[in-house]
Amino acid sequence: MQKFVISGGNRLSGEINLQGSKNSSLPIIAGTLLADGECVLKNCPVLSDVYSASRILNCLGCKCQLSSGNAVIDSIGVSGFEIPDELMREMRSSIMFMGAILGRMGECIVSIPGGCELGSRPIDMHLASFRKMGVDISDSGGKIHCRIPSGKAHGAKISLSFPSVGTTENIILCAVTAKGDTIINNAAREPEICDLCRFLRKCGADIKGDGESRIVIRGVKKLHGCEYTIMPDRIAGATYIAMTAATGGELILKNACISETEPFISVLEQTGCGIYIADNRIYVRKGARLHAIKDRIRTMPHPGFPTDAQAVLMSALITADGTSVFEENIFDCRYRHTDALIKMGADIQVMGKVAVVRGVNKIYGADIEATDLRGGAAMAVAALSAEGTTNLSNIYHIDRGYEKFEEVVSSLGGKIRRE
Ligand code: EPZ
Repeated sequence: MQKFVISGGNRLSGEINLQGSKNSSLPIIAGTLLADGECVLKNCPVLSDVYSASRILNCLGCKCQLSSGNAVIDSIGVSGFEIPDELMREMRSSIMFMGAILGRMGECIVSIPGGCELGSRPIDMHLASFRKMGVDISDSGGKIHCRIPSGKAHGAKISLSFPSVGTTENIILCAVTAKGDTIINNAAREPEICDLCRFLRKCGADIKGDGESRIVIRGVKKLHGCEYTIMPDRIAGATYIAMTAATGGELILKNACISETEPFISVLEQTGCGIYIADNRIYVRKGARLHAIKDRIRTMPHPGFPTDAQAVLMSALITADGTSVFEENIFDCRYRHTDALIKMGADIQVMGKVAVVRGVNKIYGADIEATDLRGGAAMAVAALSAEGTTNLSNIYHIDRGYEKFEEVVSSLGGKIRRE
């Protein structure tokens, strides 16, 4: 099992090009199943989750070539409709293939997906939405069998009880080639959903309203292949910004997604960290000690503060001057990183969905284990600002979402090595 050995205390400084977005590349890769032709995805990040997605495509009969920054996917030969259990368990986004397989084949067999353990992560909204679109679903022996008796889903009016990102994406994937119109009310508005829709439109889909809470999809007969550039990863961006703030450095983030990162930046600015934006770049500079954030930091669906950036911001605030309070409203169990931060000397008290972070003067290196993707990244942020050496194990979590993590951190002057 690999680990990162991180020696803290170096000010990070330099410039980086932001990687492509994990959370939009995965549903887009699923969407290539619907295209009758070759898709070329540029700026596709090289991540273990992307490799998992390509293994799913291969087992369904697609040809998928991944090389640095590009994925070339040819779905003409798709013949399968079952995703084996071991591939379903590799990541949560395996569930996103359901909508696309149903759209292409009219039938699919899956099992409960894996992914980060952030509390209970049911798929009830996905299944209820498919049922509304004419899909028969049965569940036996751990397998979920979905079948559309007529072979093609029909449009439906679906009102989500919560703006779930994955459910919104799955409905869109199933609806683009369904018969008739699908309307999603209370749809998620995350930028990655807009990226998926931009890709699908380039393939010939008719979608309106993405980025708003009412999305209308008019089913078309067929989609064709296209060349598409995946948006930059706003959460990786937030992580490197938090890292700079925590270590007292200076960063130029090139190819940044500025408006999409705004909900994170507007909160971080309250710490006194200097953030300047120009020409598609974010410039970050930390001067004196960060101030704690006065208002409660509430994670909310976009355009609220992103749950995926909660842990990395917390790591930057553990040595801030004063007390910051977090409220996690998206997942039941997204404070699993706090035990490791406490072991490093942080003063954090978790009470249900609230975490109170009292700033301390210093934290120290320790032997810790990544608990999930963003929690693991947050531990690396803390380790880089700590005194002494941290051994961070279970880094396969970090590899799921950060491209060449140690190379990026080293290029900024951070002392990190993989062992
Ligand atoms: C996506 O997960 C992201 N993953 C997550 O990023 C992100 O944290 C999350 O959206 C929220 O922004 C990908 O895009 C691959 P949801 P998803 O459906 O789609 C409940 C990361 O670190 N829910 O919006 O799984 C659910 O339990 C990852 O990159 C149901 O109850 O999130 C949660 O409480 C982690 N029933 C809430 O909705 C359902 O059928 C939000 O989940 C579906 C969801």
